[in-house]
Amino acid sequence: MACFAATLGVIILAGFLNLSAANQDTCDLYAVVGLQSLLLPFTYDGLANSHVLRWTHNSTIIFYREKGRVSVGKSEDIFIAGSLLLKNLQFSSAGTYRANVLNPNGTLAKTWTQRICMMDKVSKPQLTYMCDPKSSAVNLYCHVASPQGLVFSWILDEKTLTGETRQTLSISLAKLKGETSFTCSVANKVSKEKSDTVRPTCKGPPPPTLFCFTSTTVVAVLAGGVSLILLLLIIIIVLCCCHRRIKTQTRPRELRMLSVNKRESDSISPEYETTHPNEYTENRPAHLSIDSEVKQPSPVPKPRTIPPHTANI
Ligand SMILES: *[C@@H]1O[C@H](CO)[C@@H](O)[C@H](O)[C@H]1NC(C)=O
Ligand SMILES: *[C@@H]1O[C@H](CO)[C@@H](O)[C@H](O)[C@H]1NC(C)=O
Repeated sequence: MACFAATLGVIILAGFLNLSAANQDTCDLYAVVGLQSLLLPFTYDGLANSHVLRWTHNSTIIFYREKGRVSVGKSEDIFIAGSLLLKNLQFSSAGTYRANVLNPNGTLAKTWTQRICMMDKVSKPQLTYMCDPKSSAVNLYCHVASPQGLVFSWILDEKTLTGETRQTLSISLAKLKGETSFTCSVANKVSKEKSDTVRPTCKGPPPPTLFCFTSTTVVAVLAGGVSLILLLLIIIIVLCCCHRRIKTQTRPRELRMLSVNKRESDSISPEYETTHPNEYTENRPAHLSIDSEVKQPSPVPKPRTIPPHTANI
């Protein structure tokens, strides 16, 4: 029976300790490391020299005044109502601070307890972004050395986005009109820092397939066009050359044919030449001589009669 009571007592005690430990985790005041001074806001109206004032930190007495005499700490750190000024705060300044005021007859007049937590100032975050053409969005990342316990917020064109408290932010490219400015900010209980303003420049939201097409098709079309023009030029040059060659070949042949005709006509009428003056036949154009011979179906009897006739005219 006694054993049972003892174990029950231990269990209850353990529960109490756990409860007090949980309470100790919560902080009443947060202070940044390196802070010059912090006033612990305890006040007792009517505090007199007859009262005993005692301040403790983690159960260590840091200030004691009895009958106007200060035995621990400095009197300039205590204000009239009993508040204490902490100076040059460090991580070791954290902990439980308690103030006790005792009546002249030794009874407790007032007690006050607060737990102070010390924190480092947050460093300035670095805002980076990546364009994601697949989801047509821009992904922003607010980089800090140790993100644990920090609160993130996002400012889009000077306005804070409500409900965006994560370290990353995704915004669709359709929402990016013109020069949208982004700023991220990180905060802990004691400090807040903003990043530099960033204006993401992503290629517009139009279908990415079209964009992919153009780069290759433009090259293909250009190459095709150039080769087509070259082919046409080659064809034109070849045609011109052929045409010129045909012309140069036909001219001598015509002349040869004419001369052959002339020789034939000469051989047909040998008397004609002898009777005619040489100058006359040579001055006449070639085709005329052919005509004259074509018009004369029987050149044999006429040559003798014509020369005198023409000579007379
Ligand atoms: C007081 O206790 C806290 C933990 O509760 C500790 O962080 C701090 O360093 C302690 N300070 C001193 C001076 O013992
Ligand atoms: C102690 O002093 C206070 C005020 O001075 C008074 O209210 C209280 O009753 C006293 N207690 C005793 C036990 O005398």
